[in-house]
Amino acid sequence: MADNVRELRKSPEASEQRESTTVVVVGAGPAGLTVANLLRRSGIDCVVLERRSREYVAQRQRAGIVETRAVRMFDSWGLADRVLGGVPYDGILEFRVDGERHLVTDDDGSEGPSARLCPQQVLVQKLTAAYLADGGDLRFEAADVSLHDLAGDRPTVRYRTADGTLRAISCAFVAGCDGDHGISRAAVPDGVLTAHAFDHGIGWLTVLADAPPPAHPLLAVSPQGFAAHFPRGPHTSRYYLQCPPDDQPDAWSDSRVWDALRARLGDPALTPGPITDREIFRLRSLVHDPMQYGRLFLVGDAAHIVSPMGGKGMNLALYDADLLARAVRDFVSDHDETGLRTYSQRCLRRVWNDQEFSHWLTRTLHDAGDDTHTGPFHRSLARARLDRLFTSPAAARGFAELMTGPDLAE
Ligand code: APR
Repeated sequence: MADNVRELRKSPEASEQRESTTVVVVGAGPAGLTVANLLRRSGIDCVVLERRSREYVAQRQRAGIVETRAVRMFDSWGLADRVLGGVPYDGILEFRVDGERHLVTDDDGSEGPSARLCPQQVLVQKLTAAYLADGGDLRFEAADVSLHDLAGDRPTVRYRTADGTLRAISCAFVAGCDGDHGISRAAVPDGVLTAHAFDHGIGWLTVLADAPPPAHPLLAVSPQGFAAHFPRGPHTSRYYLQCPPDDQPDAWSDSRVWDALRARLGDPALTPGPITDREIFRLRSLVHDPMQYGRLFLVGDAAHIVSPMGGKGMNLALYDADLLARAVRDFVSDHDETGLRTYSQRCLRRVWNDQEFSHWLTRTLHDAGDDTHTGPFHRSLARARLDRLFTSPAAARGFAELMTGPDLAE
């Protein structure tokens, strides 16, 4: 155990071991690990509790782009070289409409390092290694985590270790970084949070394959529906195919997947490869407001889900993490509560900005292809938006700014 946690005493009333720290972080995904690393760099004690094993967390595959703004955030903490793997992204995105190529850049003219193609599991592995190398306290396989006294000055977080020992950690703050199905948000009393939810009525089949990656991340519009092809490594690709949200992955044989990709990407010569993973999920958006209750601060997916179009989910989690770490640091070092008081409001401003971008891109790329979904009127509107993006420098610049993550004026 790290020296930052003082072992207090065995509680007489229950056979639980009691300890104390400044921040308990629940969940070791991108959000929790970023909060923990930034707190550690600020010299603030914290304990991370993760339900799963280290191996499980390190392999979980999800998003693949760390946007420019997030790269610069890690850079400002002196962490970019240690936690960002993958390859620098040249900022070029390909839109392929009925087989016709259009390259769009996310270069918004700003100085500094740019986005990286870094699969989420690589970021998670590197964040874990950096935190542990800095002496961080990270406890995997923490079962039955529960939050108590969140409205008071010293919340308590209880959990059970892998060998069955009950532990209670008293802390100043809890960072709820345990995703959409975690316990943190569920610990907030009814009526405190408002949930704003939206279901696009669209499914995506996602396929991981040992097949050559594309030259640029590729988004394709076709009469058969949306498709996408993203690099995931030197010899690995992730593909997406629009499908009914209630479809089953078994309905998509290998040959059906490759035929659909060839047709929708307009590439009869697309090289196939062994499929290693295949799942179907619904495109949905969800925002909880506020992102705070007492001394609990919700971070990342625990507070909001963004439809995957535009790669904003993980990046929003990194933004929240940065704001929370700075707010706790200001409070601990200068008794300045401003950051904590404004945390939710500042995060939500960014969340809604990115929700709007994801929503716009989701609607545009789905409506522009499949007119059975929303009808020919919306199809023509979506095509007009794409036409503007491909021909108007001002529209292209606005898009680039949204891709990199604009600095919203305070
Ligand atoms: N106790 C402890 N840990 C928990 C609990 C619990 N009760 N419930 C969930 N967790 C852990 C999960 O095992 C996971 O490791 O919390 C972590 C949450 O991680 P993510 O779901 O990856 O969420 P987050 O860190 O907010 O990451 C941002 O945005 O769009 C997405 O793909 C993107 O997953 C990324 C996310």
